[in-house]
Amino acid sequence: MTITIGLSKGRLLKESKGILEMLGQDFEHIKTTRQLVIKDEAQAYNFILLKPSDIPTYVEKGVIDIGIVGKDTLIENERDVYEVMNLSIGKCRFSVAGFPENKEKLKQSFIRVATKYPNIAKSYFDKQDKTIEVTKLNGSVELAPLVGLSDMIVDLVETGNTLKANGLVVYEDIAEVSARLIVNKVSYRFKSQGIQEIIKKVQLWEDENDSKI
Ligand code: PRP
Repeated sequence: MTITIGLSKGRLLKESKGILEMLGQDFEHIKTTRQLVIKDEAQAYNFILLKPSDIPTYVEKGVIDIGIVGKDTLIENERDVYEVMNLSIGKCRFSVAGFPENKEKLKQSFIRVATKYPNIAKSYFDKQDKTIEVTKLNGSVELAPLVGLSDMIVDLVETGNTLKANGLVVYEDIAEVSARLIVNKVSYRFKSQGIQEIIKKVQLWEDENDSKI
């Protein structure tokens, strides 16, 4: 029975190298091919490379059995899937950031916020009884305060280099984020053996990786 595994394009793919190698895959091939479905017939795996935000949708619908995706994406796009493992890759945080001189704007009852994660931003400010006007962007969020589109941003911060390069600072941290292994609920039952094998291999990689730190 073939198991289809969804991989996030971009940064998380690079960090998935060790896991893919543990699954017996040629990482360079997966990284460079333009094929949308990469087949490993020997091990009965199919790999599909997707935009991270589409992975939970494909897993919920059962087109993909297992996905590696950031917790940020899972919180923003709630889907009915099993989250089976917290991985040690894709570690970063959700933060509120802006120009140092504008930090006072956090005290305003109305704030203009730009973000790729409108649900997370709204729920964070709702809890503080603040009304925000959200501008949903798809990338380069740090540009918004620079050009006056927003007072601040809610975004992922990994190294902090993008903020620094644009003269921005973190005001508040919202949550820690890391990648997760998610599984379709039906596949978890009906492809149990294959899925458990993959989970075991990923766990083995996690253990080996952990012992190196
Ligand atoms: C993410 C995030 C920040 C940046 C943070 O964007 O949205 O912009 O990385 O990383 P850093 O703290 O290491 O600088 P990404 O590079 O994924 O692309 P995007 O701007 O097109 O969304």
